[in-house]
Amino acid sequence: MDFSIKAFNTKNAIAEHKSSCIAVGIYEGGKLSASAKALDLKGVLTTAVKTGDITGKAGTTLLVHRAGEAAKRVLLVGLGAEDAVSDRNFISAIQSVSRVFSHLGASDAMLALPLDCVKGRDAHWAIRTLIPILRESVFRADSLKSKKDDTPTGVRKITLLVAEANSATRHTLKQAVAVANGLDLAKTLGNLPPNICTPTYLATTAKQIAREVGLGVEVLDRKQLEALKMGSFLSVTNGSDQPPKFIILKHQGGKAKDAPVVLVGKGITFDTGGISLKPGGGMDEMKYDMCGAASVLGTMQAVGEMELPLNVIGIIPACENMPSGSATRPGDIVTSMSGQTIEILNTDAEGRLILCDALTYAERFKPACVIDIATLTGACITALGHHNTGLFTRHDKAHDALADELLAAGKYSHDTAWRMPIEEAYNEQLKSNFADMANIGGPPAGSITAACFLERYTRKYTWAHLDIAGTAWKSGGAKGSTGRPIPMLTTFLIDRAEG
Ligand code: BES
Ligand code: MN
Ligand code: ZN
Repeated sequence: MDFSIKAFNTKNAIAEHKSSCIAVGIYEGGKLSASAKALDLKGVLTTAVKTGDITGKAGTTLLVHRAGEAAKRVLLVGLGAEDAVSDRNFISAIQSVSRVFSHLGASDAMLALPLDCVKGRDAHWAIRTLIPILRESVFRADSLKSKKDDTPTGVRKITLLVAEANSATRHTLKQAVAVANGLDLAKTLGNLPPNICTPTYLATTAKQIAREVGLGVEVLDRKQLEALKMGSFLSVTNGSDQPPKFIILKHQGGKAKDAPVVLVGKGITFDTGGISLKPGGGMDEMKYDMCGAASVLGTMQAVGEMELPLNVIGIIPACENMPSGSATRPGDIVTSMSGQTIEILNTDAEGRLILCDALTYAERFKPACVIDIATLTGACITALGHHNTGLFTRHDKAHDALADELLAAGKYSHDTAWRMPIEEAYNEQLKSNFADMANIGGPPAGSITAACFLERYTRKYTWAHLDIAGTAWKSGGAKGSTGRPIPMLTTFLIDRAEG
């Protein structure tokens, strides 16, 4: 899908722009937006309102054909009450436009909705919001089907008509497209089957995007991980025939001396639970246990494509969690890269075991902050469902500030998180009689004790943990990767770079 921006003004009136279709807004109560009025030359749109064909309720649409005009069709789109167009109203309007565009008998269209109509938002927010929604309609997950799903038809070329087509709006469009590309990559990786999307495949993908958008890349193999003494990470890969990979991506957009933001993504390409084997039902969904890694790859690709003036490093520990004669046993004690020992009481709590060594590795970059992203606990789904990502940090001034930044980025991009506690009391549950800590804390507060475990490896820097177990993919009929939390992460990074 191809996007561009054009200006309209008094010399270059809306009604003179040629296209197959132009989408314009209408407010609740039937009030035409300015661009709709400009197109209502023969009163056809006013008649449509008068006859009750459209009221302006958010998300409703009416397609009007107009032979002989510059724009052959007008798509009226409801935005809701003019004095209170909400984020939700705007998103629902764009979703409706997207639906109509995707099976229109035309390949080009214009969008002339009032981009500054949303309360408290500006045109930049509108552009960043609408591009991923329009792109979603052409996303397909049929690369492995011999007969493809319906071939994408409809509108492929969209021009945004804005009052001011300046360098700032063009810059925002470029950023929005980069984020949509990152979402595509992460969703595609998440949806791939675990026999294709292996740790080696993730490493190859990392090298490919590094080449394409200009990132530094390094992939460490088992020997190098042994030399680094990543005993915890390596214990998870023991049962697998797939070699583990430790991926490092670097974007140097800031000054050489500037401390980088480090993103760490859980890359379990399949989680059987290991010897603490998971039940069979729905186990296929554990192919999504690399969605943290995919979100880091998608974010790094977007950051590179945007040429963001910020230093960002992505770290991905990738392996499979499999049972076999060589697999780690419950009761095994391993030594992490930090030197802390861990009694593995449940081999299914493997995410924290690979992350703790990656978090220790992150120290060498003297980071401004470290954010880890992981499909870490089923308990997080119990706590927050599928709406909010779980956000965990320590509770001090610096961490409250980081948490607030991430929460705000989530709200801006409609990829929200909810903050959870990390407190000493929960740490009691990680006590082991034989090692520095156990890798599980028992049934109560499972997502919090998992975060408490990670916290012990992050004391040298400012850190946040995102548990995306409930938000990274959808089950059932709509089964598929969501690409979350890329919108939140990219918004956070853009704000850090430009805010
Ligand atoms: N990858 C899972 C977490 C998960 C489970 C995400 C279901 C999404 C849906 C993780 O490795 C895991 O198995 N966690 C265990 C931890 C437990 C053994 C302490 C869990 O949540 O059951
Ligand atoms: Mn597990
Ligand atoms: Zn897992």
